[in-house]
Amino acid sequence: METHVGHERSVGTPSHASFHRLSSQMEAHQNDIEQVLITEEQIQQKIAEVGEQLSADYEGRDLLLVGVLKGAFVFMADLSRHVRLPMEFDFMAVSSYGAATQTSGVVRILKDLDHEILGRHVLLVEDIVDSGLTLSYLLKNLRTRRPASLEVCALMQKTGVQQVPLDIKYRLFEIPSVFVVGYGLDYGERFRNLPFVGTLRPEVYRDAVS
Ligand code: IMP
Repeated sequence: METHVGHERSVGTPSHASFHRLSSQMEAHQNDIEQVLITEEQIQQKIAEVGEQLSADYEGRDLLLVGVLKGAFVFMADLSRHVRLPMEFDFMAVSSYGAATQTSGVVRILKDLDHEILGRHVLLVEDIVDSGLTLSYLLKNLRTRRPASLEVCALMQKTGVQQVPLDIKYRLFEIPSVFVVGYGLDYGERFRNLPFVGTLRPEVYRDAVS
């Protein structure tokens, strides 16, 4: 079969005008950020360290990464590539805040796992632990399915706001109790693709309600 290299290249490379449009839109996006709390370099450095730790801890075990959608998809993709072991992936989707910034305490499963986890070594990958209600519910639910082991790897945990005791074996960052976006986390479905974690300018919330 013929390979149309030239054609593929013209699809993948934006024209100068469209590239300019894309980058200025991205700039406007980043201007909504008030403060960068965790830089891209800090995130990547920590992920490499935890990846090493997981590679050692799960050696010889049948590892299944379970990502909590949508927030964990960016973290999970980067993390998994630093774990030098064979592994499988599955995902759950749970209800999030929507466009609000406060937890409702009500957790709803929107998408369950595709496969059984009986006898598997499950590592639950979460973006952020705030009140801990989501994680607590998920752990309780997954335990009833009798995995061989069940641990949590959370990118961030907010300090001093947890409402339930939780055992988080792998936690990369502790942050103050503020609403953050980026690196998978959203506000009204935006900002997930920022490579860092930051807070939003107050105008962004004001503009959203007006
Ligand atoms: P928790 O049940 O209060 O621990 O909240 C956990 C879930 O709420 C996370 O998985 C996120 O989807 C969402 N969440 C909590 N804090 C933030 C935040 O600061 N920014 C964006 N989403 C958040």
